[in-house]
Amino acid sequence: MLFSGLEDCLVRSAAPKDHSRIIAVLTDWWDGRNLTSMVPKVFLLHFHTTSLIAEYKDQLIAFLIGFDSQAYANEAYIHFSGVHPDFRGRGIGRHLYGRFFERCRKEGRFNIRACTSPVNLGSIAFHKKMGFALEDGGGRINGIPVFLDYNKPGDHKVRFAIDLSEA
Ligand SMILES: CC(C)(COP(=O)(O)OP(=O)(O)OC[C@H]1O[C@@H](n2cnc3c(N)ncnc32)[C@H](O)[C@@H]1OP(=O)(O)O)[C@@H](O)C(=O)NCCC(=O)NCCS
Repeated sequence: MLFSGLEDCLVRSAAPKDHSRIIAVLTDWWDGRNLTSMVPKVFLLHFHTTSLIAEYKDQLIAFLIGFDSQAYANEAYIHFSGVHPDFRGRGIGRHLYGRFFERCRKEGRFNIRACTSPVNLGSIAFHKKMGFALEDGGGRINGIPVFLDYNKPGDHKVRFAIDLSEA
């Protein structure tokens, strides 16, 4: 069976054992940027029930790592999401975000946040398409609103927010 679209995927909640599969593909899916240190196992151990995996014929083709805020009862956060390069542009990323939003709505969490690097223009474009607004952090890089020195000096971030009660 050739992959013809979303209907051929199995989308399920993540499990702790998915961590090694995600780490194995991360650098390749992020165009050679090694961001594996940003996805330690703790995310899959403690946030697997709110994270999602998409498979095609048992092959990992997409994932979303997200969790509910402990501090804010109305918020949830999407930490990382990726789609296999051969499966992009077919609505899989949108579908995973939609599934995450759906669960959040049911649980009364309407404010969803995410964050990316200002160099990741694809991620910025994608999040805008998903309805996210770019938060004003006071800084600007190439016209993009950023939070300068967000995690540490030189590590600037673009922060996204969406209010699902308005979306
Ligand atoms: C960003 C990413 C998750 C998008 O996944 P995808 O399955 O290709 O996205 P979709 O097909 O669902 O696209 C949804 C919309 O976003 C747009 N979009 C997706 N990627 C885009 C890009 N790189 N540039 C511009 N628009 C993009 C699509 O055109 C589509 O718009 P439309 O609905 O108006 O047609 C995927 O490209 C990826 O894994 N990138 C590398 C990892 C990464 O940067 N992850 C995000 C940050 S954690």
